[in-house]
Amino acid sequence: MNKNILLGVTGGVAIYKVVDVVSRLKKLGYNIKIIMTDSACEFVSPMTFETIGKCDVKTKMFHEGSHKIVEHIDLASWADLFLIAPASANTMAKINHGIADNLLTSCALAYDKKIMFCVSMNTNMLNNPATQKNIRELEEKGHIMVSSNSGLLACNVVGDGRLKEPWEIVEEVEKYFCKKDLTGKKILVTAGGTVERIDPVRYIGNDSSGKMGYSIAKKAYMRGAEVTVISAKTSVECPDGVENIKVESADEMQKEISNRIEKFDYLIMAAAVSDFKVANKRDKKIKKSDNFNTLELKENPDILKSLHKNENQIFIGFAAETNNLIENAKKKLSEKNLDYIVLNDVSKSDIGFNSDYNKVTIIGKEDIFEIEKESKLNIADKILDLIK
Ligand SMILES: Cc1cc2nc3c(=O)[nH]c(=O)nc-3n(C[C@H](O)[C@H](O)[C@H](O)COP(=O)(O)O)c2cc1C
Repeated sequence: MNKNILLGVTGGVAIYKVVDVVSRLKKLGYNIKIIMTDSACEFVSPMTFETIGKCDVKTKMFHEGSHKIVEHIDLASWADLFLIAPASANTMAKINHGIADNLLTSCALAYDKKIMFCVSMNTNMLNNPATQKNIRELEEKGHIMVSSNSGLLACNVVGDGRLKEPWEIVEEVEKYFCKKDLTGKKILVTAGGTVERIDPVRYIGNDSSGKMGYSIAKKAYMRGAEVTVISAKTSVECPDGVENIKVESADEMQKEISNRIEKFDYLIMAAAVSDFKVANKRDKKIKKSDNFNTLELKENPDILKSLHKNENQIFIGFAAETNNLIENAKKKLSEKNLDYIVLNDVSKSDIGFNSDYNKVTIIGKEDIFEIEKESKLNIADKILDLIK
């Protein structure tokens, strides 16, 4: 069933970003109702939110028309989440002190779950001891503070107080609703492609972007797990909330994994690890005049084979194959003592390496699961569903 979000909009200049938040939440299928304060209506017309949200926008406690339903009580009990964005200093102060002088603050008083406040204001307003005290006390009452970012503010000051970007706010909402079925689990994920140096400026690498590994890390974190990611070269940022250890080569990755694997329940090896490294690597940049004509390779350690797996641990490997897909993947599963192997066909350009999408086959000791083309985030969820 789709979740109900009651969005409270207050009078802050970052209100324009919240129109985008509404659009994104709508696309994700949430049911939305909106309350705007009088100040919010000075910045943006309710019509904008009504059109983008395709929903009711309430602005008045006392209005023309029927009062048979007590609106602030009805809205508060309808909501699965009360999101306030932007959350002005004024409205946070009122809610912290139980003041209920408009529809939004009355709803807040009648709402018996956690409110999510997306803080947004000028740096001095934010740093004012009164605001800091209100934020602290609201947190102590169990409410969720989506803290602001640092950057250039509308008042031309550079500092704290910028409303988080719309995608970041939506991510907080998604995290709030995410099932927490991996709470207490420790998951080690590898991501990206290893780099094998030829000299200080050249290397052998591969096309892995890190998106699959990072999607798994992000979803595992959202589902309550304690997550560490060991990342080789990636083209995207590591998600928030997870510990990130950066490495370059397969040797470094092996060292970092074996140093800590003992304390993890799961190892998910989504990194593309080079099978070979350069045997005649140079410490100084190779020049044309050096007559360096032949690259000599030697085998890298097989990380999964080198690890001692205890009976309670679950190890998952990835296989990026271009031919004999199932056969090669099954061979890896048994040779490397894995519980599952996730097979992706990297010969197609619209999925796999670098893409936001993938199409995988998950092979277990007894079962095979086909996952049709989906976002890497959705695939991450399905892999985690299998192992939890
Ligand atoms: C141009 C302008 C921008 C403002 N931006 C903010 C802001 O970002 N955050 C904030 O807390 N107050 C901001 N204010 C002040 C609030 O609008 C004011 O405190 C108002 O009383 C808030 O009312 P409300 O909490 O009922 O929406 C701004 C005011 C103006 C005129």
